[in-house]
Amino acid sequence: MTSPPAAHNAPMPAHEEGIELCDGSALEERAAAVLFDVMLWDEPVRAFALRYDGRPVAYVNRCAHVPAEMDWQPGQFLDDSREWIICSIHGALYQPADGLCVGGPCRGSRLIPVRVEERGDKVYWYPSREIRPLFAPCS
Ligand code: FES
Repeated sequence: MTSPPAAHNAPMPAHEEGIELCDGSALEERAAAVLFDVMLWDEPVRAFALRYDGRPVAYVNRCAHVPAEMDWQPGQFLDDSREWIICSIHGALYQPADGLCVGGPCRGSRLIPVRVEERGDKVYWYPSREIRPLFAPCS
């Protein structure tokens, strides 16, 4: 078994307060997503946040079927019913609340979640071991 690159063993940067993503009002119920860039391990990728049933949710913009971005237009992830996140490539359907694929070629797989929280009038995202800010803040 190979060890992950050294960077993966680095201590997590402290982001207890989260990283400001947007105003809460920027995420309207079941409307366009806010896009943001993160590092997934060592790779820069796009992530997205949208509001579903009143609460912000966020995922890496990467289909579980083929590692491709899913939005049919930038920030447009929901299907016509506004019930499902849909991949524009082969039509996989994901539950917005937890990213589980419930239809399509990757049924049972999940989107990669990004933790988000709404506090006051702002939405914040939280880095994890695998998802980090694109640019580390200067200290
Ligand atoms: S790439 Fe998303 S369903 Fe195939």
